[in-house]
Amino acid sequence: MKQKSSPSIAPPRPTGQIWDADAYAANGRFVANLASAVVALLNPKSGERILDLGCGDGALTEQLAATGAILTGVDVSPTMVAAARTRSIVSGFKIDLHPAESLPYKARFDAVFSNAALHWIPAPNQPAALAAVRRALRPNSRFVAEMGGHGNIAAIRVALQTVLGRHGIDAEAAAASFFPSPAIYTRLLQQAGFSVNSIELVPRPTPLPAGMEAWLNTFRNGVLDRLNPQDRANAIAETVALLRPVLRDAEGNWFADYSRLRFHATAI
Ligand code: BEZ
Repeated sequence: MKQKSSPSIAPPRPTGQIWDADAYAANGRFVANLASAVVALLNPKSGERILDLGCGDGALTEQLAATGAILTGVDVSPTMVAAARTRSIVSGFKIDLHPAESLPYKARFDAVFSNAALHWIPAPNQPAALAAVRRALRPNSRFVAEMGGHGNIAAIRVALQTVLGRHGIDAEAAAASFFPSPAIYTRLLQQAGFSVNSIELVPRPTPLPAGMEAWLNTFRNGVLDRLNPQDRANAIAETVALLRPVLRDAEGNWFADYSRLRFHATAI
């Protein structure tokens, strides 16, 4: 008997990162606010069917829907999906809960868009995620995205590796983030059935109005929560102290050393 083909099974994500919609709204709003370049590269048009992959709380999904495009947002976090669904009631778009590695859509979209989400998919899961994106797209349609690229948050990662190493934690392994170079991501996109029209690595020091401690609590809680509360508080203080000379300016403003990988690819 002929076997029904099933999507490849991706290993579970090991990061332990917890998404808190309120903390994200307070400390992570800059993520959507700084997306104008990748939104311009997407160039959404009225009536197009667009999937926002890793939509988070739906702030950008809502912006894209305002162009008249027909938006579906999808995210792996139930708390963020709940926040996005609240937003979608007013703005009228659809929000689904799925991991990128097992998106259920078949040739349904004119474009897949993603901002600041693909780096949360660990390297071993990337082929399954990109294959699922390819399946979701119609032939000749586009995949436009921005993610952390090679060297992203390098100073923050070195500081965390140093401080958490004293507690026997390999912070890089625990975070399991994927920050590829243009050459590596081009190969992965090609292997998944895309041709790459443009891909670039863009350094983008990013202001953190709420400071470094808030950033660590919001975006590295999966790693920090491996410590007991006292060690956790000390580790944050030590990490902030290590980073102060390089990521805080003379007027006391904090920046994160982001480096974005931005690309436009076509499903072939
Ligand atoms: C990023 O957008 O590059 C990023 C955000 C949080 C943690 C790691 C990377």
